[in-house]
Amino acid sequence: MKHLFLIFLMNLLHQYAGKSLRRDGSSLKSFEDIKNEIAGYTDIAKAIIDLAVHGKAQNRSYERLAVFADTIGPRLSGSKNLEAAIKYMFSALQKDGLENVHLEPVKVPHWERGEEFAVMLEPRNHSIAILGLGNSIATPPEGIIAEVIVVASFDELRARAQEAKGKIVVYNEPFISYGETVQYRLQGAVEAAKVGAVASLIRSIASFSIHSPHTGGQSYQPDVPQIPTACITVEDAEMMSRMSLRGTKIVVHLRMGAKTYPDSLSFNTVAEIVGSKYPEQVVLVSGHLDSWDVGQGAMDDGGGSFISWEALSLIKDLGLRPKRTLRLVLWTGEEQGGVGAKQYYQLHKENISNFDIVMESDEGTFQPSGLGFSGSAEARDIVKEIMTLLQPINVTDVYDPADGTDIAYWMRDGVPGASLYNDISKYFWFHHSQGDTMTVQDPNQMNLCAAVWTVVSYVIADMEDMLPRV
Ligand SMILES: *[C@@H]1O[C@H](CO)[C@@H](O)[C@H](O)[C@H]1NC(C)=O
Ligand SMILES: *[C@@H]1O[C@H](CO)[C@@H](O)[C@H](O)[C@H]1NC(C)=O
Ligand SMILES: *[C@@H]1O[C@H](CO)[C@@H](O)[C@H](O)[C@H]1NC(C)=O
Ligand SMILES: *[C@@H]1O[C@H](CO)[C@@H](O)[C@H](O)[C@H]1NC(C)=O
Ligand SMILES: [Zn+2]
Repeated sequence: MKHLFLIFLMNLLHQYAGKSLRRDGSSLKSFEDIKNEIAGYTDIAKAIIDLAVHGKAQNRSYERLAVFADTIGPRLSGSKNLEAAIKYMFSALQKDGLENVHLEPVKVPHWERGEEFAVMLEPRNHSIAILGLGNSIATPPEGIIAEVIVVASFDELRARAQEAKGKIVVYNEPFISYGETVQYRLQGAVEAAKVGAVASLIRSIASFSIHSPHTGGQSYQPDVPQIPTACITVEDAEMMSRMSLRGTKIVVHLRMGAKTYPDSLSFNTVAEIVGSKYPEQVVLVSGHLDSWDVGQGAMDDGGGSFISWEALSLIKDLGLRPKRTLRLVLWTGEEQGGVGAKQYYQLHKENISNFDIVMESDEGTFQPSGLGFSGSAEARDIVKEIMTLLQPINVTDVYDPADGTDIAYWMRDGVPGASLYNDISKYFWFHHSQGDTMTVQDPNQMNLCAAVWTVVSYVIADMEDMLPRV
């Protein structure tokens, strides 16, 4: 009996050599095993990097994006351009030989800015460059002529609430960080309306300016009157601030023709490389196809969308098929608050246990430095190990957390998430402005971003086990 037990024990030890045993008896790979498994991808990672950076696919994501962005232009939710973009991608993904290319319908907001202008009438005539903010109401057809009050913060606005009544509030808030400063764009109209203002003009959320206004989303509150709202340039905001500090009276004529139409039919665009062993399990790579209605939406988020497509193309070109399904999703309605992603989540969350990792690139495709990651400590260690495969291009860092409007629901519910980390020092120069064109994109940088995105998504999709969750 004792002897038999010993043999049994030795068998067990043999079977699980190098592995630890869970209490339920299932095997748990040691980190050493996982490291070895990942090291086994060294040659594949090199092949991906070679193809993307030096080989036949060099500049492909950039060239594809250039044709797309030049042909279609900006892609606002509800617009004909966005419809054209989705049709274009559906056909391009099919021509690329990807699998299960399909569209998933989503109702998205349909707002159009119409004609808009602002001129300073006092102390001198001066044309003010503006971009109305998403969801803004129009002015009356003849516009609004009103005196301006300039404030540097919400606190100052509240302190001077009496003075703001009947005026146009100009916010000249300094740019601190996008996350902090964007509150003025998001809530500027509501806060101004609360103190009786008739419109708000907000200094663009930009870290640098050559007199260009930057648009973006904003929302009203049910119990607060809606007033027209637009962004102005850093230069005009600062000038009006200087004028008002000198005690000069400023009068502005603002006219905006914005209209909100009923929600419009749009689609998330999906393509796959179906997994060879665990086809029901999914590694999701993504970017959003919609953009604002200015520039070309090349940076936000053409770049992220096209390196995500490139990941599937590179894997296909190399004749690889990972064990799990690699799924490309090009979201719609992101700029209107992640509308496409929300619907996708609601539709697919029943299969949440099969989502290995959700990845989104939506913060530029400039010089990459690594990966943002959200997930358990164990999963983070695995991802750090995978990133060592990118040593040939020196993009190995792992940051905390991952960021992406469209993957946030999944990450909130414990699915590991990843985003691309890159040099965003110029991102907010161009963001949501006429400056967001192909001119800011660089083919070499996109090659590197595509290599990172592809190695990470392929290796995670092909490893024997899914990433551990929290
Ligand atoms: C890729 O772009 C770089 C930078 O513009 C250029 O030098 C190189 O020749 C391009 N490669 C191909 C294959 O077009
Ligand atoms: C300012 O422009 C208005 C028309 O928009 C014009 O009537 C007025 O004369 C101009 N004032 C000056 C000082 O140029
Ligand atoms: C969930 O996964 C199952 C099995 O792979 C599949 O048949 C089903 O269509 C999936 N549901 C959704 C909404 O994708
Ligand atoms: C590798 O990248 C790091 C930043 O991520 C940088 O400091 C370092 O100089 C780079 N090394 C080489 C050889 O390019
Ligand atoms: Zn974006």
